Amino acid sequence: MRDRFDREIDYLRISLTDRCPLRCRYCMPAQGVEKFSHDDVLRFEEIERVIRICRELGFVKFRFTGGEPLARKGVLDFLEKLPFPGYYLTTSLAVGNLDLDRINRLPLAGLNVSCDSLKPDRYRWITRRGDLGVFLRNLEGVRVENLKLNVVVMKGFNEDEIEDFIDFAREHRATIRFIEKMDFASGGPGFSSLAGVRDRLVEKGIIEPEGRHLHNSVSRYHDLRGREGKVGFITPVSRHFCPDCTKIRLKANGEIKLCVFAGENFNLRDRLRSEPDDRVIRGWLAGLIARKPYRPEGPRTRETMAEIGG
Ligand code: GTP
Ligand code: 5AD
Ligand code: SF4
Repeated sequence: MRDRFDREIDYLRISLTDRCPLRCRYCMPAQGVEKFSHDDVLRFEEIERVIRICRELGFVKFRFTGGEPLARKGVLDFLEKLPFPGYYLTTSLAVGNLDLDRINRLPLAGLNVSCDSLKPDRYRWITRRGDLGVFLRNLEGVRVENLKLNVVVMKGFNEDEIEDFIDFAREHRATIRFIEKMDFASGGPGFSSLAGVRDRLVEKGIIEPEGRHLHNSVSRYHDLRGREGKVGFITPVSRHFCPDCTKIRLKANGEIKLCVFAGENFNLRDRLRSEPDDRVIRGWLAGLIARKPYRPEGPRTRETMAEIGG
């Protein structure tokens, strides 16, 4: 479905929970986030209904996020039974005892995993409680076709690990993506622009100078020079991608977010619970999408990234 600015809005990010075993400094305060009450969190049947309605509206891409989506009880049962294969998942892979065999059998179109340092002490520091060993063991066991590794680059923290990450991702058959840190209701080390990182990689002959943009992805990809693979840059701060935005977000508590930075959300949960007719919900959602702002506007959100779902 097209919005007022002729953007095709066909990507829904679905946060399954605001909870996470980690406390990444740029994402959550040390004490965690205020948890949604059990009753406020959408039930799996309700999420399935939203996906069905969005598919009727022409949505083609669905990504499950968190907090940490794999930390939600019953998530694998839900994903296994979901009658719409080809969905995406973003995870920190930081949960111990993950059932990797079951995860490997899911009909995933892609899996994005997050890790901001390959040095155990730094990983522990940025996540406040994570263990790099858990992430690495989980990653070793993952067998999916479309695997991406997300790295938030931060001033004085991991800028010296860029090339290590490029090699590490190649070794793990993953596409590396570097991300600029956005300021939400959280702290963490300072912002680091990716423009300089990209220019240095071009100068050193590691990546090609020309980047390209793929539909439904906010990343710009540069091919590695002389080697197979590519490097992605996600630059919400230094180079805005609003004209290419194709998505809306569903929070775990059933609120719709039209823009990641928006201060105002829209309560889908109560509508789902009081309205049995899918056509009415579809009409309401279509009306909302038509109102999607061109760029962030109005008061900025005070939510944490954990609550928004990335
Ligand atoms: P692909 O579908 O694989 O391209 O992934 P994705 O970028 O859509 O999803 P992912 O969950 O891996 O998010 C990567 C990073 O991009 C996170 O830091 C997100 O917060 C950020 N991001 C994704 N979409 C948007 C967006 O529309 N606006 C902004 N500002 N940031 C976004
Ligand atoms: N800025 C940029 N990226 C962020 N993420 C979480 N918080 C932020 C932030 N403040 C990233 C995670 C994960 C993805 C879902 O969002 O590292 O890769
Ligand atoms: Fe879309 Fe808002 Fe991100 Fe711009 S800032 S790309 S409008 S979600």
